[in-house]
Amino acid sequence: MNVFVLTGAGISAESGLGVFRGPGAALWKRYDPMQLATPEAFARDPALVHDFYNARRNNLIAASPNAAHVALARLEAGLAQRGDDLTLVTQNIDDLHERAGSTGVIHMHGELLKARCASCGAVHDCRDDLSTSSPCDCAGALRPHVVWFGEAPLYMDEIYAALEAADLFVAIGTSGAVYPAAGFVREARAKGVRCCELNLEPSENAAEFDDRRYGPASEIVPSWVEEMLGS
Ligand code: APR
Repeated sequence: MNVFVLTGAGISAESGLGVFRGPGAALWKRYDPMQLATPEAFARDPALVHDFYNARRNNLIAASPNAAHVALARLEAGLAQRGDDLTLVTQNIDDLHERAGSTGVIHMHGELLKARCASCGAVHDCRDDLSTSSPCDCAGALRPHVVWFGEAPLYMDEIYAALEAADLFVAIGTSGAVYPAAGFVREARAKGVRCCELNLEPSENAAEFDDRRYGPASEIVPSWVEEMLGS
């Protein structure tokens, strides 16, 4: 059995990392993404963009995985023990899945704890604040290794290959507002794959899902994983 799981900001909400949309202090209600999360914004005011991602990086370093991240790591190990496979694709740029024990996590929107050289493209680990004077070894300027609006998501060939092979599609903690991730459920349905949504509230594409469970990820994900491993 090949299980494909897509996660979004909601799975990290209870770890204290912000979500972008929905009720409460969502990031894109407080900040204009067009001023902070586009290549044009970075060209216009790199220091402002660095400040935004530096604050999020420091928040992430102080955060911890929650029960939902831990449950997905348990699911990966449990499926492997019985010869089944889990592909974990995340829209999140945090490393909480990895810190909870998940392996092979596919970060389609990049990673906050990495920086990329705008000149040579080299990707470096990055746990410190970035600034306009943060140099790459090639002396080029470093930017967050994050996919901004208008840029192509990463690992799409690998993601579509895993979708093609999936027997079950599960979306966790995502509003279904941003493509191409929001379209993965339709790809799965077109192949007759059962689709499940685990979220705090119905997402924008809730109607595409066969099974829908609502509540905090730290509660509904562990109980879903127990069902999966018990089945
Ligand atoms: N448990 C489960 N779900 C939650 C929780 C929680 N504790 N808290 C919030 N949610 C849900 C919200 O109801 C919402 O539907 O998580 C979802 C988060 O949606 P978004 O904030 O839109 O995050 P996401 O879907 O990951 O956004 C996709 O948009 O801005 C870009 O690049 C950014 O990767 C991001 C992409």
